[in-house]
Amino acid sequence: MQANRELFDEVMVPNYNPSAVIPVKGEGSRVWDQTGKEFIDFAGGIAVNCLGHCHPALVSALKEQGEKIWHLSNVMTNEPALRLAKKLTDATFADKVYFANSGAEANEAALKLARRWALDKFGAEKSQIIAFNKGFHGRTFFTVTVGGQAAYSDGFGPKPADITHVDYNDLAAFEKTISDNTCAVMMEPLQGEGGIISPNAEFVQAVRELCDKHNALLIFDEVQTGVGRTGDLYAYQGLGVTPDILTSAKALGGGFPIGAMLTTTEIATHLKVGTHGSTYGGNPLACAVAEAAFDTVNTEAVLAGVKAKEQLFRDGLNAINDKYKVFSEVRGKGLLLGAVLNDKFEGRARDFLVASAEHGLMSLVAGTNVVRFTPSLVITDEEIQEGLARFEKAVAAVVNG
Ligand SMILES: Cc1ncc(COP(=O)(O)O)c(C=O)c1O
Repeated sequence: MQANRELFDEVMVPNYNPSAVIPVKGEGSRVWDQTGKEFIDFAGGIAVNCLGHCHPALVSALKEQGEKIWHLSNVMTNEPALRLAKKLTDATFADKVYFANSGAEANEAALKLARRWALDKFGAEKSQIIAFNKGFHGRTFFTVTVGGQAAYSDGFGPKPADITHVDYNDLAAFEKTISDNTCAVMMEPLQGEGGIISPNAEFVQAVRELCDKHNALLIFDEVQTGVGRTGDLYAYQGLGVTPDILTSAKALGGGFPIGAMLTTTEIATHLKVGTHGSTYGGNPLACAVAEAAFDTVNTEAVLAGVKAKEQLFRDGLNAINDKYKVFSEVRGKGLLLGAVLNDKFEGRARDFLVASAEHGLMSLVAGTNVVRFTPSLVITDEEIQEGLARFEKAVAAVVNG
């Protein structure tokens, strides 16, 4: 049997349209496809592979746990889950952790918890959830409706109710929308899928204050920004604004599926026994790998390295831009970066991604106008230079038609 792109069309549900390239092996920030072609990986599995491919610490944790115990369900707890939860709470504002299997599920738990908290404490009137246009929170029906792109939630019948969207960084609009009936505000502390958009410091500060004023919970979706991506363990730490609930996934498992919702003891009380759950959430294999990823990322050296590598990316991308005049700006934080196309190349982000792949570089887009880079947090400087050299060739190919 030939496992190729044609087989995808034959046997897979057509909700994705993957590239014809089928990677079969990865090591650090290099990946090889079925034909042996080598790629430098600036995509990191969409901000997931925080330690690149097959990092020895993760491989060893997986093997070790794989020979001990794989799965128990929530009927019994397990050592890796308890250790990981302790480390997450020690390193953040949170006192309590709920484990899920993905970002969407962590967000689903956060939203359900917020609704339950508000119902218990204030009554049924307090159910409004405020979120932001262009935000992305996952694809379950609740999370996709809270996300700020109606196109993703349209066409599936009646939506979860009482969700309001305002523009990110529009404080006046936010101030007009929030009230004592607001139960929670869900936001990314740097919008990823929406185009790598940083929040204004005053905006986030004011959102926090208005949440306090109206007794609304502030939920930070750190699924993309979390676990070192922005150069802080979690982005809220760099912003100096603490949420009431935080969600983490993607880099948390370094490539093994896991999600987590973090909150305070007081808020957590409202998810009583039986109110929410997941068969796989807190699975020992996932937690063992995540613990190894967390231990490796949460060090001064790795976090400082992210900031240094950001500068290498910015310098390289600016040099390419000086030569080819394709970007209006390079934005983002840490290793969550977006090169925004200027008017001349508007809407052509995908062309850059395709040309990059042809030149042996895996990259991403964020919308139609931003080329996005979310590489491994421990990508070597040499791999960054090599990847940027390949990106320059791709840019030249697009510019020269
Ligand atoms: C900010 C944010 N939240 C939630 C999600 C959904 O995560 P998952 O695909 O693991 O459900 C994503 C995925 O891109 C994301 O970027």
